[in-house]
Amino acid sequence: MNEIHFSQRRAQLLDLMEEGVAIVASASAKTRSNDTEYPYRQNSDFYYLCGLNEDNAVLILSKSGESTKTLLFVQAHNAEHALWNGERIGLERAREHFSVDEVHDSAEYSGMIKELLREHINLYIDLHDESLILTEAKGAARALRETRGVKRHIRAICDITHLIRTMRLIKSDEEIAHITKALKITAEAHHTAMQKCRAGMREYQLQAHMSYIFLNNGAAAEAYGAIVAGGNNANTLHYVDNRDELCEGDLVLIDAACEWELYASDITRTFPINGKFTDAQKDVYEKVLDVQLRVINAIKPGVKRDWLQVYSEELLCDVLIELGILSGERSFLMEAKAHKKYAPHGIGHWMGLDVHDPCPYVDEAGESLAFRAGMVMTIEPGLYFRADDESVEEKYRGIGIRIEDNILVTESGYENLSFMIAKTVDEIETICQS
Ligand code: GLY
Ligand code: MN
Ligand code: MN
Repeated sequence: MNEIHFSQRRAQLLDLMEEGVAIVASASAKTRSNDTEYPYRQNSDFYYLCGLNEDNAVLILSKSGESTKTLLFVQAHNAEHALWNGERIGLERAREHFSVDEVHDSAEYSGMIKELLREHINLYIDLHDESLILTEAKGAARALRETRGVKRHIRAICDITHLIRTMRLIKSDEEIAHITKALKITAEAHHTAMQKCRAGMREYQLQAHMSYIFLNNGAAAEAYGAIVAGGNNANTLHYVDNRDELCEGDLVLIDAACEWELYASDITRTFPINGKFTDAQKDVYEKVLDVQLRVINAIKPGVKRDWLQVYSEELLCDVLIELGILSGERSFLMEAKAHKKYAPHGIGHWMGLDVHDPCPYVDEAGESLAFRAGMVMTIEPGLYFRADDESVEEKYRGIGIRIEDNILVTESGYENLSFMIAKTVDEIETICQS
């Protein structure tokens, strides 16, 4: 994405701010073991505003009446660091690249922060960020309150993430292009898993086939820990062990997807390990698929996510009645939350720079947000029947099915961004057997 997009976002954020100073820090590098680190992952809010993928960087936006100022602190070029870890953007290139008022060495931040907060009233930060950057800012605000000659001081510490994440709700064309690129690679990975799957393989071996596709296509990372769950393992919602054997006659549920330019995709497919659904598996699968299609079809601007949740639960409750697992009036069953035992999770979540994009779900009045064009939500109904659950007929025990797609809300309705990934019984069986 071009710097112009990021500078427009910074300007929009300044518009949303009252008087004050906003500080957004980059993510710190995280130790994995002794002196080795996890692959670096930028703080999504910082990335959204700067597009910079380096640690030890800070963005500061300040606003006073009509006047605004944007400062970016980056780590200066350092020959020792460059030798071991590679070149950073450095001050000179940062000044050329970013349309900000000032670029400084991050080493100068501690010495400058007090002056930057002087005579301001509001401090905007991520209230849950306990980094040294913000600790120093709060310390500076405290010191200013005790400094003679300072007429105004910080009176309110406000949550900057709410403003940024409200902006993140509506995706631009460029953001949709990144999600679409991630999905193109993820589609190939799921199709490869369907083709390579054989009874007797281990779950991690299927995962390895998918990881190869991700890396070979330039996707730097999985968007989240892959779930490759054979048979009854699918009934553990966040199963990530992925070490069991894939058994003849079972289904495998794969919830795995890659990230492109830090934008997530999030896809689940469930398919037969031997390439052919049994009658009981097909019965449940087609019913879950029907629920998914109906829920997706209901998406359009104005529809509320809470309504979609209730609608999906009603449909899943009907399926459980049809399968003979629940009996009675749907309204009573819903009231008693009887369906929750078999359909325990939500219908979907926002998706973007984070797989579970932390954008608001409710408006300022606490009402469920209505869909608007540009929002992206996963739709992922599932039904889970544990192998030891005697409340379901034996033929359904050990079946866990989830089907997950990534849906863009458009002006006229929706677009299924993951439409290309095999989903009907016929499509899946054809790919599995190819
Ligand atoms: N992959 C995590 C989820 O579907 O929410
Ligand atoms: Mn999901
Ligand atoms: Mn998922």
